[in-house]
Amino acid sequence: MARKFFVGGNFKMNGSAKSITDIVDNLNNAKLDPNTEVVIAPPALYLSLTREKLRKGLEVAAQNVFDKPNGAFTGEISVEQLKDAGITWAILGHSERRVILQEDDQFVANKTKTAIDGGLGVILCCGESLEQREAGKTIEVVTSQLKAVADKVKDWSKIVVAYEPIWAIGTGKVATTEQAQEVHAAIRDWIKNEVSTEAAEKTRILYGGSVSEKNCVELAKQADIDGFLVGGASLKPAFVDIINAKQ
Ligand code: G3P
Repeated sequence: MARKFFVGGNFKMNGSAKSITDIVDNLNNAKLDPNTEVVIAPPALYLSLTREKLRKGLEVAAQNVFDKPNGAFTGEISVEQLKDAGITWAILGHSERRVILQEDDQFVANKTKTAIDGGLGVILCCGESLEQREAGKTIEVVTSQLKAVADKVKDWSKIVVAYEPIWAIGTGKVATTEQAQEVHAAIRDWIKNEVSTEAAEKTRILYGGSVSEKNCVELAKQADIDGFLVGGASLKPAFVDIINAKQ
């Protein structure tokens, strides 16, 4: 089953109108693998600017969305407002929001359901801490995060999973190809047993955590690594090399 390679760029809370315009210009002028699906996620303030300037065929993601359709939720952004701005994806469950902002599995699941029901694609993040890995709990933690979503969302056709071991995010300590492939295979097996065989075959499972132009080619060769969710490196010109990792 061929799954279309998928590369997301998560800018996090980085950039300015000028620097994001420069990133977009670089992508607009780059030779990109047509067989790679590309989605970039600037800070919310720059979503419309990015959508206006970015070449057709590349999509824009929000780094979050609220779980209610509208109303008295100061500071939040709704699915409809994102769609109104031409945004087609949302990154949900990122470990920085789970840890720093205390978003629990149920809140992430509710947001995922609201986003999917509203017609957005969802990049659903999961991942363990170093302590949880050292305790041998990686698969238990990751599948528990995914189960909360599967309990509410039955159609996974618009979900892309991003496995991001917390100990690899922003540290330069990328997971080995063996470590990443082991968890990706376990996630795919879990999807087969808990969602459906079709979902297991079709769901892209991305790796995230210190991906760079130096390590992406080897990681991309792994059977169950269908792409990347890239942080720091997505802000640099070498992001193009990561997009083209399968060429
Ligand atoms: O969402 C992607 C991000 O968490 C990975 O960050 O900087 O390690 O590529 P980075």
